[in-house]
Amino acid sequence: MRVVDLDRDMSDVIPTGTTRDSEYLFQRMTDVTLGLAAPAPGRRILDVASGFGQDAVAMAESGAEVVGAEPSQRMSAWARLHADPKSAATGPTPRWVRAWSDALPFADGCFDAVVCKGAIDHFDRPDTAIAEMARVTRSDGHVVLAIANFDSLACRLARSADRLREGLLRRPPRRGRRHYDVPADHFTRYELDLMREQAGRHLKLTAVRGVSLAWGLPVWTRSVGHLPGFLAQGLLRSLDAAARRAPGLADVVVLAGTPVV
Ligand SMILES: C[S@@+](CC[C@H](N)C(=O)[O-])C[C@H]1O[C@@H](n2cnc3c(N)ncnc32)[C@H](O)[C@@H]1O
Repeated sequence: MRVVDLDRDMSDVIPTGTTRDSEYLFQRMTDVTLGLAAPAPGRRILDVASGFGQDAVAMAESGAEVVGAEPSQRMSAWARLHADPKSAATGPTPRWVRAWSDALPFADGCFDAVVCKGAIDHFDRPDTAIAEMARVTRSDGHVVLAIANFDSLACRLARSADRLREGLLRRPPRRGRRHYDVPADHFTRYELDLMREQAGRHLKLTAVRGVSLAWGLPVWTRSVGHLPGFLAQGLLRSLDAAARRAPGLADVVVLAGTPVV
């Protein structure tokens, strides 16, 4: 039996829009991913595991010809319901295709760019999925992968704090999923070396960008939430700049590469 995530529950991903650092992380991750895909008129772009379809719509609004591929009927229905009327009002609409990432129903080299954001850790066959993304991308095109880093600085600090609490202070373990635990609907716990190794089998990497630092650490989330807006944004931007220089510590890593032929 194949076990896959076909019922996405946002509460187990990153709680979008609930805190300032979450909003910042999600926006930056999207900006960097779509920036590397470079949507523009005349370009063909595939969004693998397009979910609710918001990124496919944004790229279509830039004039690109966009296909959103998604196996979940539930997710695709959401995308059609919410994205299509919006798209239709503002410009070209993405084409929605029902497809698994490891068996993409497209010809070799038919896309200028392929993006896969926040999804590869949900795939049961991630290596085959990357091979497929490389196959359908032109030889000078780019595959762009945005992946949560479970060895980020935030994960390391949260793990150390829990060890201290539970070991030295003999407190009982906290209830619920810990910051550094992989959600139940993930198949792979990614960190930078694994990302590079897996992507590098099928892609010649041209960019490895760290995005955001310290996301979700309770003390940081609370502090940045209470600061005046301009100061909070300045600090979030500074940490993001540090993450860019040290992707191994970043909350999310965005990798881009051309297909290995
Ligand atoms: C967390 S969502 C990310 C959606 C979107 N890319 C975004 O950034 O909002 C993960 C998506 O992966 C899809 N998915 C899970 N397993 C898959 C597979 N093997 N192939 C393709 N998509 C899959 C799910 O249906 C879900 O829509």
